Amino acid sequence: TVGPQTNLNDDDLGTIIGPEFEIHKQDFPEDFIFGTSVSAYQVEGAKKGSGRGLTSWDEFTHMFPEKVQQNGDGDEGVDFYTRYKDDIKLMKELNTNGFRFSISWTRILPYGTIKKGVNEEGVKFYNDLINELLANGIQPSVTLFHWESPLALEMEYGGFLNERIVEDFREFANFCFKEFGDRVKNWATFNEPSVYSVAGYSKGKKAPGRCSKWQAPKCPTGDSSEEPYIVAHNQILAHLAAVDEFRNCKKCQEGGGKIGIVLVSHWFEPKDPNSSEDVKAARRSLEYQLGWFLRPLTYGQYPAEMLEDVNIRLREFTPEESEKLRKSLDFVGLNYYGAFFSTPLAKVNSSQLNYETDLRVNWTDSQNNSPHLKTTSMGIVIYPAGLKNILKHIKDEYMDPEIYIMENGMDEIDYGTKNITEATNDYGRKEFIKSHILIMGKSIRMDKVRLKGYYIWSLMDNFEWDKGYKVRFGLYYVDYNDNMKRYIRSSGKWLSEFLDSKETLH
Ligand code: NOJ
Repeated sequence: TVGPQTNLNDDDLGTIIGPEFEIHKQDFPEDFIFGTSVSAYQVEGAKKGSGRGLTSWDEFTHMFPEKVQQNGDGDEGVDFYTRYKDDIKLMKELNTNGFRFSISWTRILPYGTIKKGVNEEGVKFYNDLINELLANGIQPSVTLFHWESPLALEMEYGGFLNERIVEDFREFANFCFKEFGDRVKNWATFNEPSVYSVAGYSKGKKAPGRCSKWQAPKCPTGDSSEEPYIVAHNQILAHLAAVDEFRNCKKCQEGGGKIGIVLVSHWFEPKDPNSSEDVKAARRSLEYQLGWFLRPLTYGQYPAEMLEDVNIRLREFTPEESEKLRKSLDFVGLNYYGAFFSTPLAKVNSSQLNYETDLRVNWTDSQNNSPHLKTTSMGIVIYPAGLKNILKHIKDEYMDPEIYIMENGMDEIDYGTKNITEATNDYGRKEFIKSHILIMGKSIRMDKVRLKGYYIWSLMDNFEWDKGYKVRFGLYYVDYNDNMKRYIRSSGKWLSEFLDSKETLH
């Protein structure tokens, strides 16, 4: 496990990047965005007294506190709702020119629909935030759905299990475009829809925490063999509806407004590069994670691997939907954290169908050939080369789209027992970020990938969902024992110098 002091292996980086390679900030295109990234529930707080309606995450954290480490919840977040002006100063201190955040659906529409009321205080909050960012030279990038489903809609018809969500999402998206679309020029509909579908409806690890009885007796009963696919399908249709609205919003289009989606993809290496089964497993993993969404959004159809195996449980797109899907992305947003090694699942119990058994692949962090590779506290293999590979893969297989890396960063565990000096000395994270920036430079220069921006997860430590507050990603350390004060980490200092163009990377 990588602690904050751990260096990446220099030999490894040497072979990945090449000793001759160096890069300066000036080598990136002039309009390139270097930013940081957060989401509403993880940072805002202000659950009470601000008119915000409840979401599936409020329910999940309070109904199943044992599912969140240390019984955490996002009630307070890191108080971004009241501290956003100070936090924008931190973004400036880092010399970043972009900030990605999400709009909480229920902070705007507390019960999910306009008919049931608009929370003007919430609308004002996002207007103020956007204006303050712009006044400070920071471009906002907004995600419409970062996993918080309005509780009212969950209770009324089951949220994303029901196709009715599509029209409600259309209305919410349209509302946001009208309110903020004159100033926000970079929009994403969904964040990591694969994780929302699988962790929420198969593994029961994230809200709404559903899974089959046989899988985990504590989950509200669902049918995990079908539900992740239904939820994914409805997110894709909802994406389409939002894009429709966006294309009809004149002021959104002005000034180069773009809309896309944010997908997570690890890079997958075969566990044994000489085994054709493992090579196949790596390919399947990519198709099941990235292709699940990016194939429909580029070609109007699910990946061949999924069509073959999941067939009757996969929903179908009408020819009209397929046609529209093919034009529904102005850019691909990519969340990249690292790699896994793939090998076929030893045994598949076919009476217990779910996403994992459909995939039939085991993702592991160990491989005999590269024992020196390090994993993060969440078990992801640190693998900057994987970013180059995945960018090239997207370019080659998905018609060379514009790409934004919407998240990249490194987690560590800290129970809040370190002193400030220890907690802010994150040499490992600094090396992590540096090596990924180098790799991006290489992708742009050598592979001609159309990369437009890079957002680090995250500006500051925050609520890491089911992992609670102890898993930390921040360029700023948040002291939960002392009024959530923020302290810059060494990674943040380094970034700030690099963006001030004082640093040459090699
Ligand atoms: C994925 C999610 O989009 C974000 O909410 C989460 O905190 C980070 N990656 C880190 O796990």
